[in-house]
Amino acid sequence: MARTMSTENDTPDTTPAEPAIGEVYAEYERLRAEHPVSRNDDGLWLVARYDDVRHVLKAHRDYSSEVSQRIADDPDNPPSMLFSDPPTHDRLRALVSRAFTPRTIERQEEQIAARCEELMEGLTSSDHGDLVTELAAPLPVGVIATMLGVEDGDFVEFKRWSDAIFTNIGEILIGTPSEEAIAANEEMSAYFLDRIADLRRAPREHLLSDLVYVETEEGRLTDAELLMFCRLLLIAGNETTTSLIVSAARVFNDMPESFARLKDAPQLIPSFVEETLRFHSPFKATMRKATRDLELAGAKIAAGELILPLIASANRDERVFDRAAEFELERSPNPHLAFGLGIHVCLGAPLARLEGRIAIAAMLRRLKGISLDVPDSPELDQFGAPNSVMVTLQRAA
Ligand code: HEM
Repeated sequence: MARTMSTENDTPDTTPAEPAIGEVYAEYERLRAEHPVSRNDDGLWLVARYDDVRHVLKAHRDYSSEVSQRIADDPDNPPSMLFSDPPTHDRLRALVSRAFTPRTIERQEEQIAARCEELMEGLTSSDHGDLVTELAAPLPVGVIATMLGVEDGDFVEFKRWSDAIFTNIGEILIGTPSEEAIAANEEMSAYFLDRIADLRRAPREHLLSDLVYVETEEGRLTDAELLMFCRLLLIAGNETTTSLIVSAARVFNDMPESFARLKDAPQLIPSFVEETLRFHSPFKATMRKATRDLELAGAKIAAGELILPLIASANRDERVFDRAAEFELERSPNPHLAFGLGIHVCLGAPLARLEGRIAIAAMLRRLKGISLDVPDSPELDQFGAPNSVMVTLQRAA
């Protein structure tokens, strides 16, 4: 929240100013150096160093993912894979992984490229535009909608529901949904239940249809589990991918030479994507709950307490990355934790990488350069993706 002006007769405004751009990384650096595992004012444990974040993500028996406020054992509200532990997690992940295969992702290349071209056409129709609303947000939403079999005529509604429900990952993890979000969720659920019923009668060629028919010894996914998965794809996949595309533009703004370098050597795009994920990690932190009394880097964490592994801090840890505070286009190796690690490692990482590469290649093809109108906006470092980022485009002839 921005600090407001106060007049002579007002009581002074004590609203804390939003941290300036980059301040959050300075704070992470301080935490890594002085308080690698510390407790914040809300009682959450912050884990700042790479090795400790890695440990928390891998030790799922000690650090549970069951952190959401869901009512346990409600068949209409089954656990999401992201917020569940084994054996529930393993069953859901095994089923979903059978449909969400490398081939499924490869099959998306054409639709991603076509969608990206169409959106880039719109964005580059003038010298000035909104990178988020014209490219970075509609691209991943459209890709997932197509994978879930949303028909063209239903796209506008679908976009409205996902905007209302999925404002930001931080809120989803720790906030309570608004009335608008609840209503949109109900509408979207009704829509997908109809689609699932249609698919049970006649399969189609898309991810949701594959998910309806996927089976292991433990059976198929229920309607409620299928709905949960549709929601999870939107939560986990959209805003993070939007952030990745915005961050790429941010790097081009801050280091215009990286744009020129990639134009000459497009084979470096995958390496650029990995470094962007490390440098401006879209999923800045996740959450875990201690299953028993634990000790981490000397800190004593009691059973039931909540822990935030700070992925964005781990990815800047100078103990692991040389020149960690610098963007190195050809960094290798680059063992960043942007997609997590262990049993919850991001299922959509290949899709996110593909979307990122295609969007960046399209920018390089159509532009000579791109700059952010407000490159020091604190929104760029916030927990979720910004709602709007105005950019000036140097269009290629
Ligand atoms: C740049 C984009 C992305 C980033 C940085 C990202 C990051 C992450 C991270 C850090 C986790 C693990 C969270 C934890 O351990 O608590 C995760 C899990 C997950 N992500 Fe992604 N993600 C991205 C894109 C996507 C996309 C495009 C999809 C699918 C369409 C997706 C689907 C998932 C799913 C289903 C999980 C849960 C996996 C499980 O619990 O087993 N993500 N993601």
